Amino acid sequence: MTSPSVAALRAPGVEQADGELLRFPQRFVWGAATAAYQIEGAAHEGGRTSSIWDTFGRTPGKVFEGHTGDVACDHYHRYPEDVALMTSLGLSAYRFSTAWPRIVPHGSGPANADGIDFYSRLVDTLLDAGIAPVVTLYHWDLPQELEDAGGWTNRDTAYRFADYAAVVADALGDRVSTWTTLNEPWCSAYLGYSSGVHAPGRTDPAAALSAVHHLLLGHGLAAQVLRDKLPAGAELSITLNPVSPRAASDSPADLEAVRRIDGIGNRIFFEPVFRGRYPADVIDDTSHLTDWSFVQDGDLDIIATPIDLLGVNYYQPALLAAYDPSGTDTRGGGRADDTWVGCESVQFLPHSQLPHTAMGWPVDPSGFYDLLMRLHRDYPEVGIYITENGAAYDDVVADGAVHDVERTHYFRGHLVALHQAIADGADVRGYFAWSLLDNYEWGFGYSQRFGIVHVDFDTQVRTIKDSGFWYRDVVAANGVR
Ligand code: FCB
Repeated sequence: MTSPSVAALRAPGVEQADGELLRFPQRFVWGAATAAYQIEGAAHEGGRTSSIWDTFGRTPGKVFEGHTGDVACDHYHRYPEDVALMTSLGLSAYRFSTAWPRIVPHGSGPANADGIDFYSRLVDTLLDAGIAPVVTLYHWDLPQELEDAGGWTNRDTAYRFADYAAVVADALGDRVSTWTTLNEPWCSAYLGYSSGVHAPGRTDPAAALSAVHHLLLGHGLAAQVLRDKLPAGAELSITLNPVSPRAASDSPADLEAVRRIDGIGNRIFFEPVFRGRYPADVIDDTSHLTDWSFVQDGDLDIIATPIDLLGVNYYQPALLAAYDPSGTDTRGGGRADDTWVGCESVQFLPHSQLPHTAMGWPVDPSGFYDLLMRLHRDYPEVGIYITENGAAYDDVVADGAVHDVERTHYFRGHLVALHQAIADGADVRGYFAWSLLDNYEWGFGYSQRFGIVHVDFDTQVRTIKDSGFWYRDVVAANGVR
């Protein structure tokens, strides 16, 4: 893999003098993204029941200062104002998720008319504003009752997910043409069931692997249901958060570290979805944890149900090396944590030369470029939407403005890298900034602000940040300067 520097990204193929407009393809989709639990609030209204995140936030020590999504951005009540903000930014699309516990409150059984009505009104408001709705069916808010029955380690959850997908397709399929089954099953499975830093907070690596499989089975079953129910031309996708790994050196041990992380982080999802198989090396790497007997005959055919698009979320790169337990390694890394099932021999090294966001995430647009070119090389047939990209910074409102220069810089660097990847052949058709609004950042509660619109969580006042105005100009010009 080649790794052009950020400066080099501006040069080859697409000459960009300072201030020159790097134009994106015609009909490129420009949007912003959110997720239900992170913005809606109204957690106990309109027939919604608890999800695993309602429970997790109330479990002492799990979420920053015990924050919950009870109110969040109060988007459930303020969605007309939020759609008006999108209009003022000129967005052509809006990616949001539907909350399973709002639509099928007990995880299975009867649908909830109030819940469906909320999303129906949201979709109508978007369409009236000329903004295309892009629906994600699962952004982590599993109904608690399903978790009580085993959650994603229970095969039945995959079938319940397909039933829920059918309800949403029946309700919105006449007006929504772009659909995503799952958001980042990597997080649901490994953060939720192995390291336990996300809901439901379980710490069992074997359970995480069965969760990966049942999430993917749910994806495939839902894709079949959607294909069946939606009009011809509807676009189906899954959103993944692939790792963009780089080896610290060319030593066999460091390259082996990359192979392992790429296996458990990337190929374990890409290969079943796009090639109908699990990678043999990943099965080997994890054979001390599980015999993979949760994979039943026919599952892989279901998981490989053809889809139209891949959603890619990218935030940061990963610099990898072999873990040296002797304690003499001075590179400042740390052994891969329990999130990385079967990767005890790997360490993540710090990116000491790169700037970092408030999350402590290194900023590296060249990692984004590398990832897109790798996907183009290995899965050239699939069109891509960038369904999330963005950065958290400690924003302050002063005189009604937020001067978030670093966030604009982050977006600009990543859009230049994206432009270069498209010029070099990557079939990327859209970009969604994460996020429209500052919101509930999972285990970090409200302490991390990712929005292009600032939210005062006491007053619910929204303030478009400088990066939001900058993004508005990108959208208007269909290009970045
Ligand atoms: C992604 C999630 C999204 C948000 C961003 C910062 O992993 O999909 O909900 O938390 O990270």
